[in-house]
Amino acid sequence: MAAIERSLVLVKPDAVRDGHSDEIIGRLKKLGLKILARKKLHMDKALAEKHYAIHRSKPFYKELVAYMTSAPIVAAVFEGEGAVARIRQAMGATDPAKAEAGTIRADFGLGITRNAVHGSDSTATAEEEIRLFFTEDEIKAGGKR
Ligand code: RTP
Ligand code: MG
Repeated sequence: MAAIERSLVLVKPDAVRDGHSDEIIGRLKKLGLKILARKKLHMDKALAEKHYAIHRSKPFYKELVAYMTSAPIVAAVFEGEGAVARIRQAMGATDPAKAEAGTIRADFGLGITRNAVHGSDSTATAEEEIRLFFTEDEIKAGGKR
């Protein structure tokens, strides 16, 4: 039996603008994962830089931070058995053009930066990312939906 894990999911700006948030979150709920909190927010530069700190030296970093701060996103905390890997499988490959048919990125991604969704890549990263976006009280209260 896989361990109970948490993962931070972000629905990226274009997917929110185009009204796909509920469909994307709904697909993840259908995996049998529980949603602990959800809220819509507009990331500021400081938050985006912290969230993507690991990519600071990558050529795509500036564009990624600019994109993620360009318009509102939806952030959600999911919990369940093997949540990290199962969410990443449902998201598909980073580049929507290479993502398997039926995955979130294949269906809603517009490009490698505009790839519809973020999901934590490990349980350790998940806990760090969740702390950046949500207070413990928000998680208890379910966030502002
Ligand atoms: P994420 O962190 O967003 O869940 O996606 P990921 O693990 O599949 O991809 P990662 O390597 O962590 O990259 C983070 C985000 O940066 C953008 N990216 N652009 N232009 C490029 O070559 C490039 N590579 C990555 C993507 O938006 C990716 O989600
Ligand atoms: Mg990543």
